[in-house]
Amino acid sequence: KTPVWEARADLVVIGSGVAGLTAALRAQALGLHVLVITKAAVADGNTRWAQGGVAVVLENEHDLDDSVEKHAEDTLTAGAGLVDEAAARSILDGGPAAIARLRADGATFDSSGDGLLARTREGGHSAFRVIHAGGDATGAEVERALVAQAGQARVPVLEHHIAVDALRTPGGRVAGVTVLDRNGVPGVVRAPAVLLASGGLGQLYQATSNPEIATGDGLALALRAGATVADVEFVQFHPTVLYTPGARGRCPLVTEAVRGEGATLVDGAGQSVMRGVHPLGDLAPRDVVSAAITRRMLTAPGGVDDHVFLDATGIAGFAQRFPTVFAACGVLGLDPARDPIPVTPAAHFSCGGVVTTVDGRSSVPGLYAAGEVARTGLHGANRLASNSLLEGLVVGQRVAEAVAADLAAGLLADPARGRLPSWTTAPTAERDALQRVMSRYAAIGRDADGLAAAGSVLDLSTQDSPLWTHAAVEDAALTVVAQALLTAADRRTESRGCHVRTDFPAPSETWRRSQHIRLSLSGQP
Ligand code: SIN
Repeated sequence: KTPVWEARADLVVIGSGVAGLTAALRAQALGLHVLVITKAAVADGNTRWAQGGVAVVLENEHDLDDSVEKHAEDTLTAGAGLVDEAAARSILDGGPAAIARLRADGATFDSSGDGLLARTREGGHSAFRVIHAGGDATGAEVERALVAQAGQARVPVLEHHIAVDALRTPGGRVAGVTVLDRNGVPGVVRAPAVLLASGGLGQLYQATSNPEIATGDGLALALRAGATVADVEFVQFHPTVLYTPGARGRCPLVTEAVRGEGATLVDGAGQSVMRGVHPLGDLAPRDVVSAAITRRMLTAPGGVDDHVFLDATGIAGFAQRFPTVFAACGVLGLDPARDPIPVTPAAHFSCGGVVTTVDGRSSVPGLYAAGEVARTGLHGANRLASNSLLEGLVVGQRVAEAVAADLAAGLLADPARGRLPSWTTAPTAERDALQRVMSRYAAIGRDADGLAAAGSVLDLSTQDSPLWTHAAVEDAALTVVAQALLTAADRRTESRGCHVRTDFPAPSETWRRSQHIRLSLSGQP
């Protein structure tokens, strides 16, 4: 199909979550002509589901025994040897200013009794430094404030449009994207700068905390545009989504802040899951807690179990402090003040992604990435809880400034020279089969045989399909991202962070490095 409509911009932003809207607002303030493309309604991304909060050390706000330095140390420890220390320090240093801007722009965070911001703790944090909004509705408040700002600033947003592939110049620079509009009509947006802010890939798995839109589209677009990606084998499983028998798709999150306020994980016999596993107990880093729950489920008396329990009965005022979790429990007829909450790990966050600098520049000129789709090096092999909203705010701001600087320096392409991509079809697996094999063989606990089996099933159910519908673009994205993940997971013959190999249970010094992956000419990672 050839494009039948055309638009132009200085910067096209793909995605309307925290990173995308922050970047769009800043770019427009810098005088750039911005166009945001988002494949659902503007507020429908992953950001609004974030519960726990934003990890940030606000030194002026709190008289704390805490510092950005300690926050960086916790980030490095959680990241299990793969965090880029300079990148982490740079992004965390940007936190206080980013939060000040967001508050000035209308976001309201919860206060403690003394008029300062309330703070909680989550897994891997050595201090109470996670600020939150609406109790456990932080992402919703961040997204509300940014959408309101974007509306006031009249940032143009194309809703229900999906980006397909990048236009490139003969010299290899990105010069825009092809797009399907809400009716599937193909078009092209010519722009010297394209920012991927398209979020994550939780839909690779049957059970995930992510909404239906999290299909790895930006990562796939970047791979097909020749960009380098890294750390894609590190998919973080959140230890506690609400367990519902046979649940598929988005599972309600039970924020880690519930453990931060004192809840504990117990098995069906009432025994602690985390005792003796890690010095931080129930607040160990997320990879440790998810792996411990998985082990406990596999060794349950009477065979395999599929959930454990979170005992939050000791938390006073649960309904006020955690209204989102309370409501989700209510749907199952549970009252957390009385009933232990049944929980299980589920796919939550992609620690890897498009390799970028701390201001969002990828390996391909004209292509930028920010937020979950990007791999700045902040997360390493396991993201520290609540570092991601912060990263979206900080890098979102910086990437707009980087685009403006690159444009001013004449480093970007003339969009008129962009050629339409040759990818009119792409290998596409059937989604149910893909989610089944990824959940069975490439979740927590992987081995060489399972990863090979997953690869074979994926190959068998894959055929070349035209990218003519939104669903086809998503399925093709899931397929190439699954292939990249399986390749990276197979090569990494060690266990580290979120990547747990049952056949290589220990970390290996030779693997204390990130793997860079690109698509070959045959389209294989
Ligand atoms: C949570 O509230 O537990 C999730 C926060 C995060 O993923 O950073």
